Amino acid sequence: MATVLDVQDIGISFGNNHVLKSLSLELKESEVLGVIGPNGAGKTVMLNILTGIMRPTKGQILFQGENITNLSTTERCRKGIGRTFQVPRPFEKMTVFENILVGSVYGDRKSEKEARVKALEIMELIGLTEKKGWFAGKLGLLDRKRLEIGRALASNPKVLLFDEVAGGLTESEVSDILGMVRMVKEQGISVIWIEHVLKTMREGTDRVLCIAEGRNVICGIPEEVMRSKEVHDVYLGADEE
Ligand SMILES: Nc1ncnc2c1ncn2[C@@H]1O[C@H](COP(=O)(O)OP(=O)(O)OP(=O)(O)O)[C@@H](O)[C@H]1O
Ligand SMILES: [Mg+2]
Repeated sequence: MATVLDVQDIGISFGNNHVLKSLSLELKESEVLGVIGPNGAGKTVMLNILTGIMRPTKGQILFQGENITNLSTTERCRKGIGRTFQVPRPFEKMTVFENILVGSVYGDRKSEKEARVKALEIMELIGLTEKKGWFAGKLGLLDRKRLEIGRALASNPKVLLFDEVAGGLTESEVSDILGMVRMVKEQGISVIWIEHVLKTMREGTDRVLCIAEGRNVICGIPEEVMRSKEVHDVYLGADEE
């Protein structure tokens, strides 16, 4: 399968804090790549580098073969890199429908008419059709996460970056999220999915990458990575779930 995103040897420091020292990964077409690692390992920083919010001090990022390391966030979004935020940030005073519309108009440069059609389709996919007219600020946590995924989908991405979309949810809500990620994959979108909820990594990914101390620790088949000595050592003493 073709490589969609090729991250080569990226590094970043904040003062003396060398958060990423040398991180590399390859994301294939329609692949869900899970990313695990202890708190503070640099997972969110990695996403910020991929979307262009932060610039790496070394290394490069190729998107479909093109070097995008120096492109702005808007340029990357328009090329097809979408994301969700660890803490969902919908426009609270706008409706569910309007929130998705914004993603579609700004992220995908659709005309308003096309964007409306697309937004209706997306609401159906994420199961929020019945709450179309609700203010986003009134939504519960699961629905906010759904909306977050919907907003990311609205920009018509080729790659989606999920930062802890399952965090803080109940087990049945987590199953809901698993179903949504499956749906995203079926649309031919590749996903990088950061998550501490290990059930999602076991059941919802094709491969899992573990990062710690600014480097790749191990990457491979979820079950094997989860059971590896390397991952065990990283979480030394920490309760797995
Ligand atoms: N803007 C910033 N300025 C300075 N330091 C930062 C900044 N953003 C992140 N860091 C530091 O980078 C390190 C990695 O943070 P990051 O948020 O990427 O961790 P994480 O792996 O996502 O953790 P978690 O699992 O808790 O979400 C931390 O030490 C953090 O303090
Ligand atoms: Mg994080």
